[in-house]
Amino acid sequence: MEESIRPKVLQLVQNALLFGDSAVLPTAVDRHLMSFADQEFGENWVESDETVGLLDEGLKSLQKAQRSLDSPVYDRPMTLAYLFGHGPLSFHKVPFLMRNVLRKSVLPTELKVLDLGSGAGISSVSMIYFLELLANGIRIVTGQPEAYKLSLTPLDSSDAALGLYQRFIENYVPGFPELEVSVPGPIQTLLGSEGEGLSNTLGADKFHIIIASHILGENKSSSLSARARLLAELRNFLEPGGSILFAESAATAIPSEMNQLKSRAVAEGATLFSPCANAWEKPTGRQCYTCGNVAHEHVRKPMIADILETVCESYDYAKLEKRNSWSFGIFRADDSVHHPQLEGIGSGLFKKLSELEPSETERFSVYGSVAKVEMDRVTERPFFKICDQTCGSDSAYLSFDPTVGIPPLENGDVLEIEDARVLPPAAGRNKVIVLVDAGTTVTNLSRDFNYLSSKHVLTPEVLG
Ligand SMILES: C[S@@+](CC[C@H](N)C(=O)[O-])C[C@H]1O[C@@H](n2cnc3c(N)ncnc32)[C@H](O)[C@@H]1O
Repeated sequence: MEESIRPKVLQLVQNALLFGDSAVLPTAVDRHLMSFADQEFGENWVESDETVGLLDEGLKSLQKAQRSLDSPVYDRPMTLAYLFGHGPLSFHKVPFLMRNVLRKSVLPTELKVLDLGSGAGISSVSMIYFLELLANGIRIVTGQPEAYKLSLTPLDSSDAALGLYQRFIENYVPGFPELEVSVPGPIQTLLGSEGEGLSNTLGADKFHIIIASHILGENKSSSLSARARLLAELRNFLEPGGSILFAESAATAIPSEMNQLKSRAVAEGATLFSPCANAWEKPTGRQCYTCGNVAHEHVRKPMIADILETVCESYDYAKLEKRNSWSFGIFRADDSVHHPQLEGIGSGLFKKLSELEPSETERFSVYGSVAKVEMDRVTERPFFKICDQTCGSDSAYLSFDPTVGIPPLENGDVLEIEDARVLPPAAGRNKVIVLVDAGTTVTNLSRDFNYLSSKHVLTPEVLG
């Protein structure tokens, strides 16, 4: 993909994720899950007590494992229950992280990916899904398909999981013929607590993307520091400009611990490139992860969940979806530069929030970047945390008066907010609120990532 079309393609991917598919299990994945269940259990599996019992047992074990501190045992019932039941809730994670990677770099057309603790292949399939979104975007922008070759290397200690992975991935038919997917060599190995043996296993192999999804958080048998060293060690297996995608479910890994894990990995020499979701400049030092430490996406119910709910007594999709919060991070080997747009805007009219004395009566012009989108439970209107590194306050929020519309903002957007009220903290609180009303002008400087006015998702026409 040429650099010149990247912002446009990124917008399309972004819109698909935010409005359509992040959100949404794409039909190709949905269909694949259904036919894979038929393949694993036989076409009438829904009517077979044996297979339904197997899934039920697996779902129960998964729930039990989530509550305990022990590492789960990935036997066949549990791996299948994960693949069909809990796994689909994760399909947005890799695309979400890849979208941030794409904000900074153009991806090579031959993409080598290592899936660490691949299990049955949920993250790898969601990587294919991301490339489907990319292919869709490129087709819309250029009118031409662009060939991508994705080589996936799963690494797992479990033979059963790797066997399932191969069957699951090999049978996946990407929504676009220009995507070629291969699994050159699965690696069956038990990673030591600090990744010792990683170079024996991987040799001189390097990857553009390393996925570490639901493995470092769950691996509670080794210490947090040891896991952080392993995370940092992974950067030695990255191609130049490559990224490590780190994702953990808040149901199985405590988010505050995951923040510690991330900061320790930074101390070990890795660069944390996101969250901040703005994969750009870091205002200070080697880390900027004050924002978006935990995310929660609303995920459309996959077709297979409807079936599982009907046949498995232990399956409650709505409950799982509600608990579907996750911690994430993108690590790199090289230093990256965040927030370049903030340079120069702090002088003159727009002030850093920390330079002001909030007041009930005065109005101010301030700048800052969006750190996190939250929902007011009472008004059901979104409000935004302002990145503390950009505004100098760790409890500053941007709120919109009910009389004005809320523009579509997302993490990392850099804003100039002209003529707004800055409300001092209420008694006993330290929360400063920048309130946008009818007299305020909000300019989003992250123009190259503005939303398109319409939805662009995978359509039957585009899929051909
Ligand atoms: C919860 S599953 C995650 C699967 C997949 N990555 C995902 O995000 O859905 C964790 C996987 O990591 C594997 N695993 C756990 N500890 C491991 C270790 N020390 N070395 C290699 N694989 C390990 C397990 O066998 C299991 O398949």
